[in-house]
Amino acid sequence: MSTRGRVSSLLPDFPWDTIASVKKRAAEHPDGIVDLSVGTPVDPVDPLIQRALASVAEVPGYPATHGTPELRAAAVDALKRRFGITGVESDAVLPVIGTKELIAGLPRLLGLGAEDLVVIPEIAYPTYEVGALLAGARIARADGTAQLGPQRPTLIYLNSPSNPTGRVLGVEHLRKVVAFARERGAIVASDECYLGLAWDERAVSILDPQVCDGDHTGLLAIHSLSKTSNMAGYRAGFVTGDPALVRELLEVRKHAGLIMPFPVQAAMTAALGDDAHEATQRERYRARREILRKALLAAGFRIDHSQAGLYLWSTRGEPGRTTLEWLADRGILAAPGDFYGPAAGDHVRIALTATDERIAAAVRRLAEG
Ligand SMILES: Cc1ncc(COP(=O)(O)O)c(C=O)c1O
Repeated sequence: MSTRGRVSSLLPDFPWDTIASVKKRAAEHPDGIVDLSVGTPVDPVDPLIQRALASVAEVPGYPATHGTPELRAAAVDALKRRFGITGVESDAVLPVIGTKELIAGLPRLLGLGAEDLVVIPEIAYPTYEVGALLAGARIARADGTAQLGPQRPTLIYLNSPSNPTGRVLGVEHLRKVVAFARERGAIVASDECYLGLAWDERAVSILDPQVCDGDHTGLLAIHSLSKTSNMAGYRAGFVTGDPALVRELLEVRKHAGLIMPFPVQAAMTAALGDDAHEATQRERYRARREILRKALLAAGFRIDHSQAGLYLWSTRGEPGRTTLEWLADRGILAAPGDFYGPAAGDHVRIALTATDERIAAAVRRLAEG
């Protein structure tokens, strides 16, 4: 068929395909691979969430694109309890089928095209670029408004705490971006996937009253339950913020059938209503981070940023692909920095998402030198 492949040809190579041979090498280790290349949860989904999923398994009808009122209320309450975010209208909560799906589609859903500029961080989660490319929009990589000169972006992505660097943006930085965006008529989409996983620094939302003075106009906060509630397999997240923007997204998503399955809505409602499972998971990651961080430092790595989130942004002062091979020789797989942008070539991203047993194996191998 003549159109086959045309859209994919607009997109970069799928990054993980480029480390297949290094992965094979790491897998040859006699005690097995320690795969720290992806941020996929390995601990079980809390029984409270599993029960909520199963409790509505017999319901036959189509679910609402907007989600149930209970889901929206649970999101509003969780944002307030967990992060001190106030002023969110429950109608301004919209469930998404995992936030990657939303991010890949957001520029298109908002009607962006060739005239529009999307700003993404210098070192960024790749899907921001993918979404802009799918909409045919232009892209600028910038970590500060000064880098943008007189340009007038339509959409600015923020990601604090960052994947991959673990960098946290402070209140003043976020305030500057909001002021800049309002002056130039841009929308700010703040990807807050790791907001609940802050270790050495407090991470704040774009919707925090200290940041936006209680005015959500032009702001979107994107929240995933994949990491904090181990729900990556369920595909559960939501977007909230400016009621007018969320209403527009809802209208388009209704037509497109972008509907979260009803059992997942129930599971997500339960997860948002319970902080205990989230705290337990956070402590698991805190412990893994501590021992892995020490082992990497003792093995001669430098760790930059990484104040929050699920990754240690690490370097041995050499090209990241060289470090990747050094790690693979010890049966450890990481992600090369160049997955995340041209400025990240000397780093590797080392995830905390492995079992205690596999993290202990990595620590032993790093100590052996
Ligand atoms: C920064 C960031 N945003 C969004 C996502 C997507 O998460 P999900 O689609 O599972 O909600 C990820 C996943 O790794 C991420 O790191």
